[in-house]
Amino acid sequence: MILLGVNIDHAATLRQARYRQHSATVGGAVEPDPVALALIAERAGADGITVHLREDRRHIQERDVWRLRECMGTRLNLEMACTPAMIDFALRLNPHSVCLVPESREEVTTEGGLDVVGHRGKVQEVIEAMRGAGIVTSLFIDPDPAQIVASAELRAPWIELHTGAYANCYPVDPAGRTREWQRLCDGATRAHGLGLVVNAGHGINYVNVAEVRGLPHLRECNIGHSIISRALFSGIAEAVAEMRRRLNERPHA
Ligand code: PXP
Repeated sequence: MILLGVNIDHAATLRQARYRQHSATVGGAVEPDPVALALIAERAGADGITVHLREDRRHIQERDVWRLRECMGTRLNLEMACTPAMIDFALRLNPHSVCLVPESREEVTTEGGLDVVGHRGKVQEVIEAMRGAGIVTSLFIDPDPAQIVASAELRAPWIELHTGAYANCYPVDPAGRTREWQRLCDGATRAHGLGLVVNAGHGINYVNVAEVRGLPHLRECNIGHSIISRALFSGIAEAVAEMRRRLNERPHA
């Protein structure tokens, strides 16, 4: 069974578009509340909830993360940059896992994943601090052999393969889609062979999930935009349930 992590950042983006000045959810007037959404997503079958507390606080706010930590019943995955302030925050929060993502330009590889090769020291520091606190570290990386090998050398327990390049090609560039899919499959196989747990995320939607679920050794997908978008039409419970169904659909006999 492939697990589904639901990323709720885009619900917070919608709230911030109107209520950036408000510092609390005032009796339901400040909508939409990403925490309320997360709780319904859990009941509908989400295996975990992901939030990215960005340095610019453009969507999720610290208070959202603390409220989630208190209320939710599944696993909390905190996406964060490799900064001392975020390390400190994560150690205080004590989520199930942190996923290290690039925020500043120089931390980004050509495809958009974290440049583990170029920032070994910083990444290692976070992995060790989290390990000491019993928090799992995941590295959001491109399916690039050098990044995968570096992640294994640093003894990161998990990686999240960046599926963005593949997802961008999917509807418009069949040759690119085939090429990027092959890179993802090779990357997943290599990572698994090196002892890394393989997750995937970015740009996964209700259409491309039919292929993505075939990625070798895939443990979990983290999906945000397509689920929040679908929820506008069907509600979040149905959007989550439908994605979970598609993620685990068996091929017809
Ligand atoms: N995984 C990571 C590391 C992310 O940063 C994001 C959000 O950009 C996602 C997964 C979810 O991506 P999407 O919103 O495209 O589903």
